[in-house]
Amino acid sequence: QELQLNIEQIEKGGYDHFMLKEIYEQPSVIKDTYRGRLLADKGIIKLGGLEEYIPKFVNADRIIIVACGTSWHAGLVAEYIFEDLARIPVEVEYASEFRYRNPIITEKDVVIAISQSGETADTLAAIKLAKQKGAFVYGICNVVGSTISRETHSGTYTHAGPEIGVASTKAFTTQITVLTMIALKLAKVKGTISKTDYMMYLRELEMIPAHVEAALKSNDDIEEIAKVFKDATNFLYLGRGYNFPVALEGALKLKEISYIHAEGYPAAEMKHGPIALIDEHMPVVVIAINSDHYGKVVSNIEEIKARKGKIIAVVTEGDTAVKELADYCMEVPKTPETLTPLVTTIPLQLLSYHIAVMLNKNVDQPRNLAKSVTVE
Ligand code: G6P
Repeated sequence: QELQLNIEQIEKGGYDHFMLKEIYEQPSVIKDTYRGRLLADKGIIKLGGLEEYIPKFVNADRIIIVACGTSWHAGLVAEYIFEDLARIPVEVEYASEFRYRNPIITEKDVVIAISQSGETADTLAAIKLAKQKGAFVYGICNVVGSTISRETHSGTYTHAGPEIGVASTKAFTTQITVLTMIALKLAKVKGTISKTDYMMYLRELEMIPAHVEAALKSNDDIEEIAKVFKDATNFLYLGRGYNFPVALEGALKLKEISYIHAEGYPAAEMKHGPIALIDEHMPVVVIAINSDHYGKVVSNIEEIKARKGKIIAVVTEGDTAVKELADYCMEVPKTPETLTPLVTTIPLQLLSYHIAVMLNKNVDQPRNLAKSVTVE
Protein backbone atom coordinates (compact mmCIF):
# COMPACT_ATOMS: atom_id res chain seq x y z
CA GLN A 1 0.00 0.00 0.00
CA GLU A 2 2.74 2.43 0.97
CA LEU A 3 4.65 1.54 -2.15
CA GLN A 4 1.53 2.10 -4.24
CA LEU A 5 1.08 5.58 -2.74
CA ASN A 6 4.67 6.46 -3.47
CA ILE A 7 4.38 5.37 -7.08
CA GLU A 8 1.28 7.51 -7.45
CA GLN A 9 3.08 10.47 -5.91
CA ILE A 10 5.95 10.03 -8.33
CA GLU A 11 3.49 9.82 -11.21
CA LYS A 12 1.89 13.06 -10.10
CA GLY A 13 5.27 14.71 -10.50
CA GLY A 14 5.00 16.90 -7.42
CA TYR A 15 1.44 18.04 -8.11
CA ASP A 16 -1.36 17.32 -5.64
CA HIS A 17 -3.57 15.85 -8.32
CA PHE A 18 -3.27 14.40 -11.80
CA MET A 19 -5.71 17.01 -13.03
CA LEU A 20 -3.43 19.85 -11.96
CA LYS A 21 -0.41 18.14 -13.45
CA GLU A 22 -2.29 17.68 -16.70
CA ILE A 23 -3.43 21.30 -16.75
CA TYR A 24 0.21 22.34 -16.35
CA GLU A 25 1.38 19.96 -19.04
CA GLN A 26 -0.61 21.79 -21.68
CA PRO A 27 2.18 24.04 -23.00
CA SER A 28 4.37 21.02 -23.65
CA VAL A 29 1.72 18.64 -24.97
CA ILE A 30 0.33 21.22 -27.37
CA LYS A 31 3.87 21.57 -28.65
CA ASP A 32 4.20 17.78 -28.86
CA THR A 33 0.98 17.69 -30.85
CA TYR A 34 2.23 20.07 -33.54
CA ARG A 35 5.90 19.08 -33.42
CA GLY A 36 7.09 17.87 -36.83
CA ARG A 37 3.68 18.63 -38.28
CA LEU A 38 3.69 22.42 -38.24
CA LEU A 39 6.64 24.21 -39.79
CA ALA A 40 5.66 27.83 -39.41
CA ASP A 41 8.72 29.35 -41.09
CA LYS A 42 8.26 27.24 -44.18
CA GLY A 43 4.48 27.59 -44.21
CA ILE A 44 4.01 23.84 -43.98
CA ILE A 45 1.42 21.74 -42.20
CA LYS A 46 1.92 18.04 -42.73
CA LEU A 47 -0.30 15.49 -41.06
CA GLY A 48 0.62 11.93 -42.02
CA GLY A 49 -2.89 10.55 -41.86
CA LEU A 50 -4.39 13.45 -43.79
CA GLU A 51 -2.21 13.98 -46.89
CA GLU A 52 -3.60 11.12 -48.93
CA TYR A 53 -7.20 11.96 -48.06
CA ILE A 54 -7.19 15.70 -48.67
CA PRO A 55 -9.36 15.29 -51.82
CA LYS A 56 -11.98 13.49 -49.70
CA PHE A 57 -12.19 16.49 -47.39
CA VAL A 58 -12.02 19.09 -50.12
CA ASN A 59 -14.77 17.43 -52.16
CA ALA A 60 -16.98 16.56 -49.21
CA ASP A 61 -20.51 17.95 -49.11
CA ARG A 62 -20.05 18.43 -45.42
CA ILE A 63 -18.14 17.27 -42.39
CA ILE A 64 -20.02 15.58 -39.58
CA ILE A 65 -18.22 15.56 -36.26
CA VAL A 66 -19.26 12.89 -33.74
CA ALA A 67 -18.07 12.78 -30.14
CA CYS A 68 -19.16 12.78 -26.48
CA GLY A 69 -18.44 14.96 -23.46
CA THR A 70 -15.42 17.22 -23.65
CA SER A 71 -14.49 15.82 -27.06
CA TRP A 72 -17.88 17.00 -28.31
CA HIS A 73 -16.98 20.50 -27.11
CA ALA A 74 -13.74 20.32 -29.11
CA GLY A 75 -15.94 19.39 -32.08
CA LEU A 76 -18.04 22.52 -31.53
CA VAL A 77 -14.93 24.68 -31.56
CA ALA A 78 -13.89 22.92 -34.78
CA GLU A 79 -17.21 23.79 -36.40
CA TYR A 80 -16.36 27.47 -36.06
CA ILE A 81 -12.79 26.98 -37.28
CA PHE A 82 -13.61 24.78 -40.28
CA GLU A 83 -16.48 26.90 -41.51
CA ASP A 84 -14.62 30.14 -41.00
CA LEU A 85 -11.28 29.16 -42.52
CA ALA A 86 -11.97 26.28 -44.89
CA ARG A 87 -15.58 27.11 -45.81
CA ILE A 88 -16.76 23.50 -45.44
CA PRO A 89 -20.19 23.01 -43.83
CA VAL A 90 -19.87 21.25 -40.49
CA GLU A 91 -22.39 19.53 -38.25
CA VAL A 92 -21.48 18.47 -34.75
CA GLU A 93 -23.39 15.61 -33.23
CA TYR A 94 -23.54 13.83 -29.91
CA ALA A 95 -22.53 10.32 -30.96
CA SER A 96 -25.33 8.89 -28.80
CA GLU A 97 -28.00 10.88 -30.66
CA PHE A 98 -26.50 10.44 -34.09
CA ARG A 99 -26.37 6.65 -33.90
CA TYR A 100 -30.06 6.23 -33.10
CA ARG A 101 -31.79 8.77 -35.25
CA ASN A 102 -31.45 7.18 -38.64
CA PRO A 103 -29.19 10.02 -39.81
CA ILE A 104 -28.72 10.96 -43.45
CA ILE A 105 -25.18 10.01 -44.35
CA THR A 106 -23.79 9.61 -47.84
CA GLU A 107 -20.52 8.76 -49.53
CA LYS A 108 -19.95 12.47 -49.95
CA ASP A 109 -19.77 13.00 -46.22
CA VAL A 110 -16.63 13.03 -44.16
CA VAL A 111 -17.13 12.02 -40.55
CA ILE A 112 -14.60 13.10 -37.95
CA ALA A 113 -14.74 11.13 -34.69
CA ILE A 114 -13.04 12.77 -31.72
CA SER A 115 -12.18 10.67 -28.68
CA GLN A 116 -9.48 10.93 -26.05
CA SER A 117 -9.69 7.28 -25.02
CA GLY A 118 -10.65 5.94 -28.41
CA GLU A 119 -12.98 3.55 -26.61
CA THR A 120 -16.24 5.43 -26.08
CA ALA A 121 -19.09 3.07 -26.97
CA ASP A 122 -21.42 5.64 -28.53
CA THR A 123 -18.68 7.20 -30.63
CA LEU A 124 -17.59 3.79 -31.83
CA ALA A 125 -21.17 2.87 -32.78
CA ALA A 126 -21.54 6.18 -34.68
CA ILE A 127 -18.36 5.37 -36.62
CA LYS A 128 -19.61 1.93 -37.56
CA LEU A 129 -22.87 3.38 -38.79
CA ALA A 130 -21.12 6.05 -40.85
CA LYS A 131 -18.86 3.44 -42.41
CA GLN A 132 -21.83 1.26 -43.31
CA LYS A 133 -23.36 4.20 -45.16
CA GLY A 134 -20.17 4.72 -47.12
CA ALA A 135 -18.81 7.84 -45.45
CA PHE A 136 -15.09 8.40 -45.03
CA VAL A 137 -14.28 8.35 -41.31
CA TYR A 138 -11.35 10.20 -39.79
CA GLY A 139 -10.34 9.73 -36.15
CA ILE A 140 -8.76 12.10 -33.68
CA CYS A 141 -7.71 10.01 -30.70
CA ASN A 142 -5.20 10.30 -27.93
CA VAL A 143 -4.71 6.67 -26.99
CA VAL A 144 -2.52 4.98 -29.55
CA GLY A 145 -3.88 1.70 -30.86
CA SER A 146 -7.30 2.30 -29.30
CA THR A 147 -10.41 0.77 -30.86
CA ILE A 148 -11.54 4.00 -32.53
CA SER A 149 -8.10 4.64 -33.98
CA ARG A 150 -8.29 1.18 -35.55
CA GLU A 151 -11.90 1.42 -36.72
CA THR A 152 -11.46 4.69 -38.62
CA HIS A 153 -10.15 4.93 -42.18
CA SER A 154 -7.40 7.28 -41.15
CA GLY A 155 -6.69 9.87 -38.51
CA THR A 156 -4.37 12.02 -36.48
CA TYR A 157 -3.28 11.33 -32.94
CA THR A 158 -3.12 14.02 -30.34
CA HIS A 159 0.10 13.75 -28.35
CA ALA A 160 -1.30 14.64 -24.95
CA GLY A 161 0.25 11.63 -23.22
CA PRO A 162 -1.76 9.62 -20.69
CA GLU A 163 -4.64 11.59 -19.19
CA ILE A 164 -5.44 10.16 -15.76
CA GLY A 165 -7.79 12.77 -14.30
CA VAL A 166 -11.34 11.86 -15.20
CA ALA A 167 -12.10 15.49 -16.06
CA SER A 168 -10.48 16.02 -19.44
CA THR A 169 -8.10 18.96 -19.78
CA LYS A 170 -5.03 18.49 -21.95
CA ALA A 171 -6.91 16.15 -24.28
CA PHE A 172 -9.27 19.03 -25.10
CA THR A 173 -6.60 21.58 -26.00
CA THR A 174 -4.59 19.08 -28.04
CA GLN A 175 -7.73 18.02 -29.92
CA ILE A 176 -8.33 21.66 -30.83
CA THR A 177 -4.69 21.94 -31.90
CA VAL A 178 -5.08 19.02 -34.33
CA LEU A 179 -8.42 20.29 -35.62
CA THR A 180 -6.94 23.75 -36.20
CA MET A 181 -4.06 22.28 -38.20
CA ILE A 182 -6.49 20.26 -40.34
CA ALA A 183 -8.66 23.33 -40.97
CA LEU A 184 -5.65 25.44 -41.93
CA LYS A 185 -4.32 22.76 -44.25
CA LEU A 186 -7.68 22.43 -46.00
CA ALA A 187 -8.11 26.19 -46.19
CA LYS A 188 -4.77 26.47 -47.92
CA VAL A 189 -5.53 23.70 -50.40
CA LYS A 190 -8.98 25.14 -51.13
CA GLY A 191 -7.68 28.68 -51.39
CA THR A 192 -10.18 29.99 -48.84
CA ILE A 193 -7.44 31.71 -46.85
CA SER A 194 -4.98 34.36 -48.01
CA LYS A 195 -1.30 33.50 -47.93
CA THR A 196 -0.69 36.23 -45.38
CA ASP A 197 -3.40 34.98 -43.03
CA TYR A 198 -2.24 31.40 -43.43
CA MET A 199 1.33 32.31 -42.49
CA MET A 200 0.08 34.45 -39.62
CA TYR A 201 -2.02 31.59 -38.18
CA LEU A 202 0.91 29.19 -38.38
CA ARG A 203 3.12 31.58 -36.47
CA GLU A 204 0.40 32.29 -33.93
CA LEU A 205 -0.30 28.59 -33.41
CA GLU A 206 3.36 28.10 -32.65
CA MET A 207 3.08 30.75 -29.96
CA ILE A 208 0.16 29.08 -28.19
CA PRO A 209 2.30 27.06 -25.75
CA ALA A 210 3.91 30.29 -24.53
CA HIS A 211 0.48 31.92 -24.21
CA VAL A 212 -0.85 28.95 -22.24
CA GLU A 213 2.22 29.20 -20.01
CA ALA A 214 1.39 32.87 -19.41
CA ALA A 215 -2.27 32.08 -18.69
CA LEU A 216 -1.16 29.53 -16.07
CA LYS A 217 0.67 32.32 -14.23
CA SER A 218 -2.71 33.59 -13.00
CA ASN A 219 -3.12 30.44 -10.93
CA ASP A 220 -2.75 32.18 -7.55
CA ASP A 221 -5.25 34.89 -8.46
CA ILE A 222 -7.69 32.25 -9.67
CA GLU A 223 -7.30 30.39 -6.39
CA GLU A 224 -8.37 33.60 -4.61
CA ILE A 225 -11.42 33.87 -6.83
CA ALA A 226 -12.23 30.23 -6.09
CA LYS A 227 -12.21 31.04 -2.36
CA VAL A 228 -14.84 33.69 -2.87
CA PHE A 229 -17.23 31.53 -4.89
CA LYS A 230 -16.68 27.99 -3.64
CA ASP A 231 -19.98 27.93 -1.74
CA ALA A 232 -22.15 29.07 -4.62
CA THR A 233 -24.75 26.51 -5.63
CA ASN A 234 -25.11 27.60 -9.25
CA PHE A 235 -22.84 29.08 -11.87
CA LEU A 236 -23.57 30.47 -15.31
CA TYR A 237 -20.89 30.48 -18.04
CA LEU A 238 -21.27 32.72 -21.07
CA GLY A 239 -19.31 33.10 -24.28
CA ARG A 240 -19.90 33.99 -27.90
CA GLY A 241 -18.59 32.63 -31.18
CA TYR A 242 -15.46 30.55 -30.75
CA ASN A 243 -15.84 30.91 -27.02
CA PHE A 244 -19.38 29.63 -26.72
CA PRO A 245 -18.10 26.01 -26.65
CA VAL A 246 -15.47 27.12 -24.13
CA ALA A 247 -18.31 28.31 -21.87
CA LEU A 248 -19.91 24.87 -22.16
CA GLU A 249 -16.61 23.20 -21.34
CA GLY A 250 -15.99 25.52 -18.38
CA ALA A 251 -19.40 24.66 -16.95
CA LEU A 252 -18.84 20.94 -17.53
CA LYS A 253 -15.50 21.04 -15.68
CA LEU A 254 -17.13 22.67 -12.66
CA LYS A 255 -20.03 20.20 -12.61
CA GLU A 256 -17.80 17.17 -13.00
CA ILE A 257 -15.40 17.78 -10.15
CA SER A 258 -17.10 20.15 -7.69
CA TYR A 259 -20.72 18.94 -8.12
CA ILE A 260 -21.87 22.54 -8.35
CA HIS A 261 -24.63 23.07 -10.85
CA ALA A 262 -23.31 25.06 -13.79
CA GLU A 263 -24.69 25.91 -17.19
CA GLY A 264 -22.93 27.18 -20.26
CA TYR A 265 -24.81 29.42 -22.67
CA PRO A 266 -24.15 31.53 -25.74
CA ALA A 267 -24.02 35.01 -24.20
CA ALA A 268 -26.78 36.37 -26.42
CA GLU A 269 -29.16 33.60 -25.37
CA MET A 270 -29.03 34.81 -21.78
CA LYS A 271 -32.02 37.04 -22.38
CA HIS A 272 -34.10 34.05 -23.47
CA GLY A 273 -34.10 32.38 -20.09
CA PRO A 274 -31.02 32.30 -17.86
CA ILE A 275 -31.27 36.00 -17.09
CA ALA A 276 -34.25 35.11 -14.88
CA LEU A 277 -31.83 33.26 -12.59
CA ILE A 278 -29.52 36.19 -12.01
CA ASP A 279 -29.45 37.76 -8.57
CA GLU A 280 -26.72 38.62 -6.07
CA HIS A 281 -26.07 34.92 -5.41
CA MET A 282 -25.31 34.01 -9.00
CA PRO A 283 -21.71 34.03 -10.18
CA VAL A 284 -21.49 34.47 -13.94
CA VAL A 285 -18.27 33.57 -15.71
CA VAL A 286 -18.08 35.59 -18.91
CA ILE A 287 -15.49 35.07 -21.61
CA ALA A 288 -15.01 38.68 -22.62
CA ILE A 289 -11.82 38.70 -24.62
CA ASN A 290 -11.00 41.21 -27.32
CA SER A 291 -12.87 40.00 -30.36
CA ASP A 292 -15.49 41.02 -32.88
CA HIS A 293 -18.08 40.45 -30.17
CA TYR A 294 -16.39 42.51 -27.49
CA GLY A 295 -18.95 45.33 -27.46
CA LYS A 296 -21.83 42.87 -27.33
CA VAL A 297 -20.30 40.93 -24.47
CA VAL A 298 -19.71 44.16 -22.58
CA SER A 299 -23.41 44.93 -22.83
CA ASN A 300 -24.25 41.43 -21.60
CA ILE A 301 -22.03 42.13 -18.59
CA GLU A 302 -23.88 45.38 -17.96
CA GLU A 303 -27.17 43.47 -17.97
CA ILE A 304 -25.84 40.99 -15.42
CA LYS A 305 -24.53 43.80 -13.25
CA ALA A 306 -27.87 45.59 -13.33
CA ARG A 307 -29.34 42.43 -11.77
CA LYS A 308 -26.57 42.27 -9.16
CA GLY A 309 -24.99 39.10 -10.57
CA LYS A 310 -21.33 38.56 -9.68
CA ILE A 311 -19.08 38.76 -12.71
CA ILE A 312 -15.91 36.75 -13.18
CA ALA A 313 -14.52 37.68 -16.58
CA VAL A 314 -11.87 36.12 -18.76
CA VAL A 315 -10.22 39.11 -20.44
CA THR A 316 -7.37 39.86 -22.80
CA GLU A 317 -4.21 41.25 -21.22
CA GLY A 318 -4.41 45.01 -21.11
CA ASP A 319 -8.21 45.10 -21.13
CA THR A 320 -9.76 48.13 -19.50
CA ALA A 321 -13.53 48.28 -20.19
CA VAL A 322 -14.47 44.86 -18.81
CA LYS A 323 -12.09 45.26 -15.90
CA GLU A 324 -14.09 48.25 -14.76
CA LEU A 325 -17.35 46.33 -14.82
CA ALA A 326 -16.36 42.86 -13.64
CA ASP A 327 -15.96 41.85 -10.01
CA TYR A 328 -13.00 39.61 -10.83
CA CYS A 329 -10.87 39.14 -13.93
CA MET A 330 -8.68 36.34 -15.22
CA GLU A 331 -6.25 37.49 -17.93
CA VAL A 332 -5.12 35.62 -21.01
CA PRO A 333 -2.63 36.74 -23.67
CA LYS A 334 -3.80 38.14 -26.96
CA THR A 335 -4.08 35.74 -29.89
CA PRO A 336 -6.24 35.74 -33.06
CA GLU A 337 -9.87 35.02 -32.20
CA THR A 338 -9.81 31.66 -33.99
CA LEU A 339 -7.17 30.41 -31.58
CA THR A 340 -8.59 31.91 -28.38
CA PRO A 341 -10.27 28.70 -27.11
CA LEU A 342 -6.77 27.31 -26.56
CA VAL A 343 -6.05 30.02 -24.01
CA THR A 344 -9.46 30.96 -22.57
CA THR A 345 -9.99 27.35 -21.48
CA ILE A 346 -7.02 27.48 -19.11
CA PRO A 347 -8.38 29.80 -16.38
CA LEU A 348 -11.69 27.93 -16.41
CA GLN A 349 -9.90 24.63 -15.79
CA LEU A 350 -8.00 26.18 -12.89
CA LEU A 351 -11.11 27.76 -11.41
CA SER A 352 -12.99 24.48 -11.26
CA TYR A 353 -9.91 22.68 -9.96
CA HIS A 354 -9.46 25.05 -7.02
CA ILE A 355 -13.13 25.08 -6.13
CA ALA A 356 -13.22 21.25 -6.08
CA VAL A 357 -10.09 21.09 -3.92
CA MET A 358 -11.53 23.62 -1.47
CA LEU A 359 -14.72 21.59 -1.25
CA ASN A 360 -12.66 18.45 -0.53
CA LYS A 361 -13.94 16.62 -3.55
CA ASN A 362 -12.16 13.75 -5.21
CA VAL A 363 -10.74 15.80 -8.06
CA ASP A 364 -9.17 12.99 -10.07
CA GLN A 365 -11.98 10.51 -9.62
CA PRO A 366 -15.28 12.29 -9.23
CA ARG A 367 -18.26 10.27 -8.07
CA ASN A 368 -20.34 8.50 -10.72
CA LEU A 369 -17.98 9.36 -13.57
CA ALA A 370 -15.66 7.15 -15.57
CA LYS A 371 -12.63 8.08 -17.61
CA SER A 372 -13.77 6.05 -20.52
CA VAL A 373 -17.35 4.99 -21.08
CA THR A 374 -17.19 1.70 -22.93
CA VAL A 375 -20.82 0.74 -22.35
CA GLU A 376 -24.01 2.55 -23.19
C1 G6P B 1 -16.25 10.45 -20.29
C2 G6P B 1 -15.14 11.25 -19.65
C3 G6P B 1 -15.06 12.64 -20.30
C4 G6P B 1 -14.89 12.51 -21.80
C5 G6P B 1 -16.00 11.65 -22.41
C6 G6P B 1 -15.69 11.30 -23.85
O1 G6P B 1 -17.47 11.01 -19.93
O2 G6P B 1 -15.35 11.37 -18.26
O3 G6P B 1 -13.96 13.34 -19.77
O4 G6P B 1 -14.90 13.77 -22.39
O5 G6P B 1 -16.13 10.42 -21.71
O6 G6P B 1 -14.56 10.48 -23.86
P1 G6P B 1 -13.59 10.27 -25.06
O7 G6P B 1 -12.53 9.32 -24.54
O8 G6P B 1 -14.40 9.65 -26.16
O9 G6P B 1 -13.03 11.58 -25.45
